Amino acid sequence: MLTIVALISGSGSNLRALLEACDNPLFPARVRAVGADRPAAGLEHAELFGISTFVLEPAKFSSKDQWADLLIHSIQYHKPDLVVLAGFMRVLPPSVVRAFSGRIINIHPSLLPAFPGAHAVRDTLAAGVNVTGATVHFVDEGVDTGPVIRQREISIPPGVSEAQLHEMIKEVEREQLVEVVRGIAEGKIRLLEDAK
Ligand code: GRF
Repeated sequence: MLTIVALISGSGSNLRALLEACDNPLFPARVRAVGADRPAAGLEHAELFGISTFVLEPAKFSSKDQWADLLIHSIQYHKPDLVVLAGFMRVLPPSVVRAFSGRIINIHPSLLPAFPGAHAVRDTLAAGVNVTGATVHFVDEGVDTGPVIRQREISIPPGVSEAQLHEMIKEVEREQLVEVVRGIAEGKIRLLEDAK
């Protein structure tokens, strides 16, 4: 059974999809804990599924290093095989990336390497392109730069708003995240540390 710690910042609809998948006894992964960098609304999903949660707000620490150290320890406590960034809107400090090297995945609402960063959907619309999509990728020390695991394209309907397009992408993200976690659990997608 693949064990997971998920990190979120927002509404947690991707987390919810993962928790629902893991609720099926036949699904080969389990979420052991959910962490957040703020009192995120999505923590409620974890609580509903009886999963432990932790909140570590960087502003409440005297330094970013202290925050990163406690984040590492809070994740390590649950001994996860995989760390899933499910809408975690903060760049992980290098020490955190190194602590779970090759075992962290992120979801992103664009076809990376196009439109990295926190405003991917807005930037996509501003660029006037007619295709976008969702990406699942390994996390490295850059911003949305790690190796891509899966991508799926969607067409951008004319006149769509940023919120509408983001919701369309999130529908794809939720499916893709569950598929990738299953693939990792079944050994069909290899973690980077295994590939060394
Ligand atoms: C997703 O679009 C994810 O790619 C981005 O933040 C959004 C999180 O959505 N990083 P939710 O909180 O899972 O609903």
